[in-house]
Amino acid sequence: MLDTSTIEQIDQIATPFYYYDMDLFRRTVDHVAELAQKYDIKVHYAVKANVERRLLEYISSKGFGADCVSGNEVLHAHSCGFPADKIVYAGVGKSDKEIYNALKLGIEAFNCESLQEIFVINEMAHHYGLKANVSVRINPDIDAHTHKYVTTGLYENKFGISQHEFDKLIEILKKSEHINFIGLHFHIGSQITRVNEVYALECKRVNDIVRYFEDEGLKVENINLGGGLGVDYDDPDGNPIADFETWFGTIAQNIVRHDGQKVHVEPGRSLVAQCATLISRVLFVKSGETKNFLIMDAGMNDLIRPALYGAYHMIENLSASQRTFFPTHQAYDIVGPVCESSDVWGAGRLLPLSVRGDLMAIRSTGAYGQVMASRYNMKDLAPSVFSDALDEAPKMTDYFE
Ligand code: LLP
Repeated sequence: MLDTSTIEQIDQIATPFYYYDMDLFRRTVDHVAELAQKYDIKVHYAVKANVERRLLEYISSKGFGADCVSGNEVLHAHSCGFPADKIVYAGVGKSDKEIYNALKLGIEAFNCESLQEIFVINEMAHHYGLKANVSVRINPDIDAHTHKYVTTGLYENKFGISQHEFDKLIEILKKSEHINFIGLHFHIGSQITRVNEVYALECKRVNDIVRYFEDEGLKVENINLGGGLGVDYDDPDGNPIADFETWFGTIAQNIVRHDGQKVHVEPGRSLVAQCATLISRVLFVKSGETKNFLIMDAGMNDLIRPALYGAYHMIENLSASQRTFFPTHQAYDIVGPVCESSDVWGAGRLLPLSVRGDLMAIRSTGAYGQVMASRYNMKDLAPSVFSDALDEAPKMTDYFE
């Protein structure tokens, strides 16, 4: 929960907006940088979680690499300070234009997800007289025990290359002269909370697969274990920084690496989720026969996670927290303004009595929030407001004469 003076300041700002707690963000990144050194694990930030320039500039300044999944992410990461040789590029559907731009930039590696993709990159590298570094994304067939939309490591999956294609894959890698094979890439899912169990299992599978490739004569320099560390959506104040120590420790304990072999991880959500809060205002309170609705000015266009995944985000009434009257609580269906029945922030949420104009905080929205926003219903995109630059934010009064 924000403190009184911050609430007073942000109460002047036009809603909805994403409020970034820059102190928490920097503490999170600094903590990860320390652990990365302690466990000798290389970190590539998964840019897809949040592309805010200020965040990327800070992350790149700490020496992290970037994990990208589109040509535009590659170019953006590069413009935010990530050197080309620290940018890896995954994704099942890279277009020729995207491959061309990344080739020209000289990125650290293409994380290839199909045999045909390797073939195309080899051809294009040949055509332009270049050599492309390639890692291969392998589907390790592991259940990450998470939401079905964000589990990516099971056998029947569009991501990565599965075991039945290993022999063909090894043959292609050996005869493609315009690529350098540098490693194997894995990513089994997101918002993983059974950290010990799932990552220990992933490491065991990975050890076997790495050995198989090396036995076939392919040197695996990089072992990239992907991202996926979960955050605490239920208690963001109790656990503002994800359990990186357990994650890194589990990996260090279970992965087998020989001299010179590097281990990479690609956290997205865990680096940025807790540092942003979507701030909205109650527009109207509507009493139904059996329910009370709070209609907010932020909707599924600003944050689609509840509508798309049924995701839970904690919601607080910041204005009510400052009042000494209105002691009672009430159950509300909290909804957005968009013309879709799925535009619901939470059903039956218990909140202090809320009134028009109250400032509401939708917590843990730094990851997969702004990046998945749309202009559906021609709504404006919610801007970023930074805790260390509150004066620069547009005020409510700016919009009225
Ligand atoms: N590496 C690869 C190859 C990935 O596909 C992803 C995420 C990551 C790393 C980063 O994973 P993270 O550390 O953020 O869990 N929109 C969904 C999440 C989709 C994740 C996609 N891949 C959500 O809002 O929950």
